[in-house]
Formats: sequence, C-alpha cells, structure tokens
Amino acid sequence: MAENIFYELLNQDSVFIDKTKISPHYTPVSLPFRNQEIKTLSIWLSPVLKKAKPHNIFIYGKVGTGKTTVVKHVIDNLLSCSKEHSLPLYTIYINCRNFQTKNAVLFYCVQHFFPNKNFVGYSKSFIYDKFLTYIKEKELNFIVVLDEVDKIKEREIDDLIYSLTRTNDELVFGSVSVVGISNNLFFKSKLDLRTKSSLCQQEAVFPPYDAEQLKEILKQRVPLAFKAEVVDVSAINAAAALSAKESGDARTAVMLLLRAGELADLNKEKRVTDQDVLKAKAKVESEIIKSMVLTLPVQLQLVLLAISEKSLSPKAILKITGQLDSNVLYSGEVYEKYEELCKKYSEKVVSTRWFREYINELETYGFITTTVSGKGVKGNTTLIKLGFDAKNLANMIVKEFSE
Ligand SMILES: Nc1ncnc2c1ncn2[C@@H]1O[C@H](COP(=O)(O)OP(=O)(O)OP(=O)(O)O)[C@@H](O)[C@H]1O
Ligand SMILES: [Mg+2]
Repeated sequence: MAENIFYELLNQDSVFIDKTKISPHYTPVSLPFRNQEIKTLSIWLSPVLKKAKPHNIFIYGKVGTGKTTVVKHVIDNLLSCSKEHSLPLYTIYINCRNFQTKNAVLFYCVQHFFPNKNFVGYSKSFIYDKFLTYIKEKELNFIVVLDEVDKIKEREIDDLIYSLTRTNDELVFGSVSVVGISNNLFFKSKLDLRTKSSLCQQEAVFPPYDAEQLKEILKQRVPLAFKAEVVDVSAINAAAALSAKESGDARTAVMLLLRAGELADLNKEKRVTDQDVLKAKAKVESEIIKSMVLTLPVQLQLVLLAISEKSLSPKAILKITGQLDSNVLYSGEVYEKYEELCKKYSEKVVSTRWFREYINELETYGFITTTVSGKGVKGNTTLIKLGFDAKNLANMIVKEFSE
C-alpha cells in the first residue's frame, strides 16, 4: 500500500516549534510598552473590587496598537482577583462586528446569562427586562466590553449606550459599565453629545509603536514560536522597520514573521531571513487591507464598494492640463452608485454632506486619494482615485455583505 500522504508533511522539518504563538490571535503573557495603559485601565476598573460602579471607558488607537489584547489582559486579571474574593463581577466581551444593533448586543448578554435557554423570538422589551432583572437579582457589577464599537450601526449606538447606562438608575446594588474600543478616528465626532459624554467618561489613547519597540515585542515572541536561533536578527529588524514605517502596528510585525517562517518552510530553508520577510510583505499587506476593509463601518464599506465598482469601468476624464486620466471618478457618480447599493443591501442613504465626510475618512485611511477638479472639468467637483485593486476590494466587500 502507498505510504500515507501526510507522513512526509509530518516529518518535514520546520522552523517553528509552535506557530500559534506568532499568530495575531495569540494573547502574550507580557505586554511590553503597555504598562502605563494597563495600570490606568486597572485603576479605572478597580471600583468593582469595592462593589462600586466604574466609569465608562473609551479606548482609541490605530490598528495593532494592542487595544484588544490589553483590555482582555486587564479584564482577565480583574476576573481572577474578584473570584478569589468572591465578588459579584460579571464581564462580557463582544466584538461589535458581529453584533451591530442594540438588540443584538442585549440579546447576546442575556443569552450569556442564561446559556441553557433559547431566547430567539422573544420581544425586545422582554430581553431588556431579563437583562435588568438578572443584574438586579444577582447584584452584579457588570462590565461589557464593546470592541470595534464603531461597527454598531449609526442609528443604534446612541440608543445602546443610553439603554446600558440608564440601567444604573434602576439598580440599588450592582452596576453596568461599558468599555468601548475603536480604531476609528471619526467615531467619537459622530456621537450624539449625550452619548459621547456618557461613553467617554474616561479615555485612553494607545499610541503606535516605533521600530525599536516593535523589535523588542518580536524578540520576546520569537523564542516561543520558532526553534532556537533560526530567525535571523536581520528578519526581526526588517519586520519591525517595515511595520513601523507603515503604521506602527504590532499585528503587521507579527504577521510578517509568521508568513516569512511559512515561506522558509515551503522552500525547505533552515533559517528565516530578511529576504523571507520582504517576500512575505505583499501577502501580509493584502491580509491587512482585508482586515481593514472588514472592520470599516457598514456605511464606509458601501462607499468604498461604490468606488471600487465604479473603478472597474472608469471613463476617461479630461484634466485641466489637457491630459486624459482614466482612473479617476467624479464624486457625483460615486454617490449615485452608493445610493443604488444602499437600496440593494437595505441600508439607509446618508446625505451628500455625510457622504463627503465618508470620502474624507476613506482618504485618511489611505484607501483613496482625492483632488478638486479645476475649471473645465465639470465645474468644481471632487475627483476620487482608488489606491488599491478595485476587483479585490469589491469582491471582499460583496462577500462580507452576503455572509
Ligand atoms: N505590547 C505588546 N506586546 C506584545 N504583543 C503585542 C503588543 N501589542 C500588540 N501586540 C500583538 O499585536 C497584535 C495586535 O494587537 P491587538 O489585536 O491588541 O491590536 P488592536 O489595537 O486591538 O488592533 P485593531 O484596532 O486592529 O483591533 C496581537 O497579536 C498582539 O498580541
Ligand atoms: Mg482590536
């Protein structure tokens, strides 16, 4: 009989000892350069150790600056401390990408409180009532972490924060607090004033890492994931330098080494070098773009989809210089496409003023560049140019909408 097809793969030499430790989903035990943030968060949440309500907290920072990891780390510590002292602390972590409305969030919490019951089909007021009574009866100090909170639909966020905070008025013992996390620079400015002051009672901003810090983070991670001395210093330096240059993002740094290691294995190399990191760059970049697109709020995804779909068949535009530019779009035609897409996906259409804000946002994130046309090009209009492959982006977003 032929040899099992997996034997060769099983016995194949690898540069890794434990690949999961260099995956972006791994939560490291130590988090260098975040001591201050960890300490501040712990102080803000510590009132629960005295059965009091902590303030709501809002955490902002660019992608890969350790927000999710730090919050999970602090909450884990808080939970084990409160367990040791039999305190009535209850925490839930929610990634709002998967729960984008007030009811979805409350439903998730209630389902968590009663894991053996099925609440599908119950009314919204029943769910809220269950939520409130559970906290009231158990006198819980309840902390809900809303990660990627900007993913909550715009018309829902004010209502959600209001519902969660008003619960406190009904509680004599126990409390409800929110930790909101976002990497969206514009999220706060879109909130209703009351929601903003309620959600952002305490605020922390996580700065990007510089190349030296990223190098240190990688140096701590490498021995957990790779065999001794297979990763060249040049590889660590390259991964740190590339990620610092792009965004100061630890996720990119970690992923560069992971993919570089996989390439080394694929090519049956014994070492991981800066050349492997450079080769891994394009793949990691497209993975990062994908995760950026998927974490955009729905409305921004729709505008980006409109731009991508329009860019698939661009018409040539005659520029003021007399040259033809075939890759630019008029803002008006993009808006029309956006309206069409909103209808298709049953999303509300925002006014042209908000639409312009979205265009600004997409430019800030580096997806597009814009210029204002000079006279001679259909009056004074904004011209939009996509910075990435239109087909890829369109496919990604359409797939996200059809899931
Ligand atoms: N200080 C650190 N030490 C070690 N690893 C870190 C540190 N900061 C971030 N990382 C690693 O970088 C990756 C990204 O971190 P994390 O997911 O917490 O970022 P984030 O700020 O939540 O990003 P996003 O805004 O995209 O959600 C994770 O793999 C994490 O383990
Ligand atoms: Mg995160």
